[in-house]
Amino acid sequence: MTNEIKTFETHESEVRTYCRSVPTVFKSAKNATMTDENDKLFIDFFAGAGVLNFGHNNPLMQKEIIKFIQRDGVAHSLDMYTDAKRDFINSFVKTILVPRGWANHKLQFTGPTGTNAVEAALKLARKFTNRTEVVAFSRGYHGLTLGALACTANDNFRSSSGVALEHVTRGTFDDIDALDKMKKQMTSNLVNPQLPAAFILEPIQAEGGVRVASKKWLHAVQKFAKECGALLIFDDIQGACGRHGSYFSFDGMDLNPDIIVLAKGLGGYGTPIGMLINKPEVDKTWNPGQHTGTFRGQGISFVAGKVALGYFEDDTLNNETIKKGNIIKDYLKELANNYDDIVEVRAKGMMIAIEFKSAAITKKITEKTYKHGLIVCICGSGDIIKLIPPLTIEYEILNRGLKIFKQCVNEVLG
Ligand SMILES: Cc1ncc(COP(=O)(O)O)c(C=O)c1O
Repeated sequence: MTNEIKTFETHESEVRTYCRSVPTVFKSAKNATMTDENDKLFIDFFAGAGVLNFGHNNPLMQKEIIKFIQRDGVAHSLDMYTDAKRDFINSFVKTILVPRGWANHKLQFTGPTGTNAVEAALKLARKFTNRTEVVAFSRGYHGLTLGALACTANDNFRSSSGVALEHVTRGTFDDIDALDKMKKQMTSNLVNPQLPAAFILEPIQAEGGVRVASKKWLHAVQKFAKECGALLIFDDIQGACGRHGSYFSFDGMDLNPDIIVLAKGLGGYGTPIGMLINKPEVDKTWNPGQHTGTFRGQGISFVAGKVALGYFEDDTLNNETIKKGNIIKDYLKELANNYDDIVEVRAKGMMIAIEFKSAAITKKITEKTYKHGLIVCICGSGDIIKLIPPLTIEYEILNRGLKIFKQCVNEVLG
């Protein structure tokens, strides 16, 4: 029997999530489309939660991966040296670090999930400063392991921790007055000020519903961090690798974080890499093996990740991302003009949020998008739909996906 989901429902954990809104069995995927076992084609505006910036089965990566496997390249190496890892590092240094004046920054490979990379960043900051408290911000999402979860704001995720989520002070995202207030509170006790080890934030919040921090606020946080001897950690796990029309979400703002956290799109093909970019003086804090992990040397991820870096050797992809992002934004803003139930459209590059008046509305819309063959995701408090198609999506497919989305919104709100 095709399209049999009983196996999953019978044997797989209740913790399953995305599959519940797309309850079918996929058999293949190409660039921005996925096909299920009944040969139904879905347009993918979700891209593996922002992993597949370069599309499903990117042909350039596929070619290099096949070559690598056929030559018996080293698929797994812990953190032993391999030629594939050296090629990835050299490309990253040349394409990303050198143009930003960060040639001496250190690349730290962590376990391959975003949340493990966040754990490493928090540990490093606490060790470097010899302090415990960390400041994280409202609506921030940093992963679900305990240290990262303590920084994540969403109560739905926090409620399953089972233990107290401690040593995190919650600031208000993109709010200068609130930052000033926090500064006063932290420094008011002159004898024993409660100063943090780090400020961790997404310069553009993704799961929080596409919220773009102002340059002014980001500089104010950076300044405060510097003044009080705390580190500035940018979690660019979902925002980097070209999503907003530049390699990092904060490019062009003259910011200088102490630690940048990357994962998701870094491995290119959906093949995972978790990585920190550490200022050299901060990185010196580590002793060998203090944040080790088995899966830090994934050969196939390095091969595909190196191809992904090739997209940033010139501005072609970034320009296309801005152009396609504008098409989506304009289309949705026009749609929003028709309905009071659409609160706002927010966008930067190809990460676009459309906020509705209630989670009940987004639920109805995503039932329709599934039926009509479009994959989207809900974020925020359930009242926001986020569109993050692969950056490489064809214009024709993009326009088809937008038409389906509009039809679904019209069916629910019209
Ligand atoms: C900004 C940000 N940080 C951390 C994470 C956690 O990454 P992972 O799910 O790979 O653990 C995510 C995942 O969505 C994210 O968007």
